[in-house]
Amino acid sequence: MSARVGIHDLAVATAAHVLDLGDLATAAGIDPAKYRVGLGQEQMSVPGPDEDVVTMAAAAAAPILARHGADGIRTLFFATESGIDQSKAAGVFVHRLLGLPASCRVVELKQACYSATAALQAAADMVARRPEDRVLVIASDIARYDLDSAAEATQGAGAVAMLVAADPAIAEVEAAAGVFTADVDDFWRPNDSATAVVDGKLSIGAYLDGMIGAWDDYRARGGVAIDAIDRFCHHQPFTKMAVKAHRRLGEHVGVDLGAESMAASTGYNRRIGNSYTASLYLALAALLDTDDDLAGRRVGMFSYGSGSVSELFTLVVAEGYRAHTRGAETEALLAARTPVDVARYRELHAAAASLGSHDDAEVAQESAGPFHFTGIAGRARQYRRA
Ligand code: COA
Repeated sequence: MSARVGIHDLAVATAAHVLDLGDLATAAGIDPAKYRVGLGQEQMSVPGPDEDVVTMAAAAAAPILARHGADGIRTLFFATESGIDQSKAAGVFVHRLLGLPASCRVVELKQACYSATAALQAAADMVARRPEDRVLVIASDIARYDLDSAAEATQGAGAVAMLVAADPAIAEVEAAAGVFTADVDDFWRPNDSATAVVDGKLSIGAYLDGMIGAWDDYRARGGVAIDAIDRFCHHQPFTKMAVKAHRRLGEHVGVDLGAESMAASTGYNRRIGNSYTASLYLALAALLDTDDDLAGRRVGMFSYGSGSVSELFTLVVAEGYRAHTRGAETEALLAARTPVDVARYRELHAAAASLGSHDDAEVAQESAGPFHFTGIAGRARQYRRA
């Protein structure tokens, strides 16, 4: 890459409701410490009937457009595991809701929790070739597992939008990257299922193997040595997974990496839960919003998508990044969520799993967010801006 290219702005959205995992544990007769300490999770965001990956994605991207306008945005990449159609990209709905220009390509990318990283890399390469272009990358997901399953406590919902541009105000994406793919049946979601199928223990092992494979490839491709990386964000299906990953990477390279170099990255995921593609970028948002000593520092980013594809790459945080972060807005979003009890959460979970596309249906506006799913008409999903 000849010019500095990277993340010029980044904004977060989540769902309207929140479930305390202590309540979920108590209802299931499980020690709450298993979730809080064993998994590193406090809460999970729960979508209402009028929310999905489209509404969260539009809500995440709207403040970026308000700050920067749409000029130069000729590509929108929508990364998701929880797509809402087998054919049409969810980003096309977002394109309309945000009023983006018609002269824009829109496409959806899928590979479990990984695809936002592929989108970010493709966006950076596009901008390197045409520095006047800007690319909107949105990661948006709802993590849904079966009720009463071991994975139930690792659900959640969230979106992160990023504006990728030349001379970025937040962080440069460095050119070196390590990648690793292995065909593993650790997690997948069949076409006829609203919830993922998962072998949790296998997925933890596959994640750690993928990280080592990606790290070794990163080094072989000219990536910097471990002591040149100052902070780390690891994919967080639950935040304890990032702690395990950090420890394993340290063992592999023969260095004690210390918990403090990744601790700040877990703040949002502990409260939002798993958000699949968005999770790694929520980790980055938390790091940027809470660590005020990042200027010029290099951040190692590890992305894992079950199935499985892994990537390790680095960012260099821009001088002056603190003037562009959004910690207060994200705190306000989290605080504005409506608490639900276990009974209401189970109702919302069941309703989401049973919504089909055959019959016309109207969905009442329930959430206070800026965008709403309003129902099905002629088998097509309907959305509107509030
Ligand atoms: N107090 C504190 N910690 C406790 C505890 C208690 N009372 N009870 C259990 N724990 C700890 C366990 O020791 C374990 O920690 P460790 O892995 O560091 O040893 C952790 O809590 C989880 O307990 P475990 O019995 O392994 O949980 P589980 O088998 O019920 O399920 C997952 C955990 C992650 C496998 C499950 O939630 C899942 O499948 N999630 C979805 C898949 C996923 O997120 N994969 C990650 C890679 S992509």
